[in-house]
Amino acid sequence: MTAPKKLFIKTYGCQMNVYDSERMTEALSGQGYVATDSQDDADMILLNTCHIREKAAEKVYSELGRFKGLKAEKPDLKIGVAGCVAQAEGEEIMRRQPMVDLVVGPQSYHRLPELEARTRAGEKALDTDFPAEDKFEVLRKRPKAARGPTAFLTVQEGCDKFCAFCVVPYTRGAEVSRPVDRILTEARDLVERGVREITLLGQNVNAYHGAGPDGDMTLAQLIWELDGIDGLERIRFTTSHPNDMTDDLIAAHGSCAKLMPYLHLPVQSGSDRILKRMNRSHSADSYLRLIERIRAARPDILLSGDFIVGFPEETEQDFQATMDLIEAVHYGQAYSFKYSPRPGTPAAERPQVAEDVASDRLQRLQALITRQQRAVQDAMVGRHAHVLFERAGRFDDQMVGKSEYLHAVHVTDADVRAGDLCRVLITGSGANSLAGRVIRAG
Ligand code: 5AD
Ligand code: SF4
Repeated sequence: MTAPKKLFIKTYGCQMNVYDSERMTEALSGQGYVATDSQDDADMILLNTCHIREKAAEKVYSELGRFKGLKAEKPDLKIGVAGCVAQAEGEEIMRRQPMVDLVVGPQSYHRLPELEARTRAGEKALDTDFPAEDKFEVLRKRPKAARGPTAFLTVQEGCDKFCAFCVVPYTRGAEVSRPVDRILTEARDLVERGVREITLLGQNVNAYHGAGPDGDMTLAQLIWELDGIDGLERIRFTTSHPNDMTDDLIAAHGSCAKLMPYLHLPVQSGSDRILKRMNRSHSADSYLRLIERIRAARPDILLSGDFIVGFPEETEQDFQATMDLIEAVHYGQAYSFKYSPRPGTPAAERPQVAEDVASDRLQRLQALITRQQRAVQDAMVGRHAHVLFERAGRFDDQMVGKSEYLHAVHVTDADVRAGDLCRVLITGSGANSLAGRVIRAG
């Protein structure tokens, strides 16, 4: 028997990439690969890249440059680039870094075994097509490893919204939803392997409209189907667009016990002038009214968001409108970014806000979000939470899990294992996590 080859995947960016990296590992297991945590003993290194941040492609090129020595020592080492930078840059990657053997876009991961074989034959392998076949179906048929208690499941990919700052519609392509039966099969399979919580993934997940037995289903209908799976205890979904928060999805937050009270609903800005320029097709006010309806359905829901500061032509007044919106919503968590021009997107051509102005705004915004996040966390102290334990913590006898609100919660000296769902009394609130004491298992 030949020794297994080692695969090292470095994953950047969103949960979609984390999910894709797992699928790539499974796809290559048929070629005799096992995953390794160390790039030094790898036979293949794959960078699963993200294109959403500033200078993403340049960072990938400099990261690749660092593999030169390794490749000189091990000529058989194969180096590949996957993900959105691979899609955006394509052949250019091999031109600029000739030691790269393989470039594969997010829609072609099911073709990895074939592409890997070509690299072993000494060829360069490039695939950045948007093929017609269903990559998830091809990938699903491959062997699978045992699972922890939580898993991601991609239900939708791509986006048709074309926000003026965003590369996703170009790198991930048009919005495509997977059929309901395939998602249910994958979910049942995950549950059989020990998964108790599934997070449904999509760049624009609430635009989901996959084929069901009697026509297309909405995300809410899909969630109700998943609700019927015994052993699946928790359902989450991310990331949503305000314009696709349909009535049935809002209602599900009030009535589906398995749907967790957490919603990531990016607004990006609180200024209508900027929202218009961003091509967001919602206003600050329509967003606030939407939040009111969601809270009416599920009063304790924890809200999370994404914000961009320093978008072209953003004035101090526009920024203040964003701060006012944040004050009005009171977020439990949020991500915030300085605008960074992405070549090929409309906003990249417009007059840019000075770097120091954007940095200053980002700092003020993050300070406000941190205050809100801490207030929401502190308010948990003395209350009960349901925690799904996921893994051992950094300290002896410590276990860490997530509450229904997605807060990290740690307990010590409790007789709990990964996969246990327990009622926990929250006893303390730290910078990024809560401390608790297990009251009751199950
Ligand atoms: N500059 C800064 N932030 C961006 N995002 C997307 N594109 C850009 C960009 N060009 C942010 C948005 C989005 C999140 C995933 O990343 O807030 O919701
Ligand atoms: Fe990008 Fe999200 Fe806008 Fe789609 S909705 S273009 S993924 S920011």
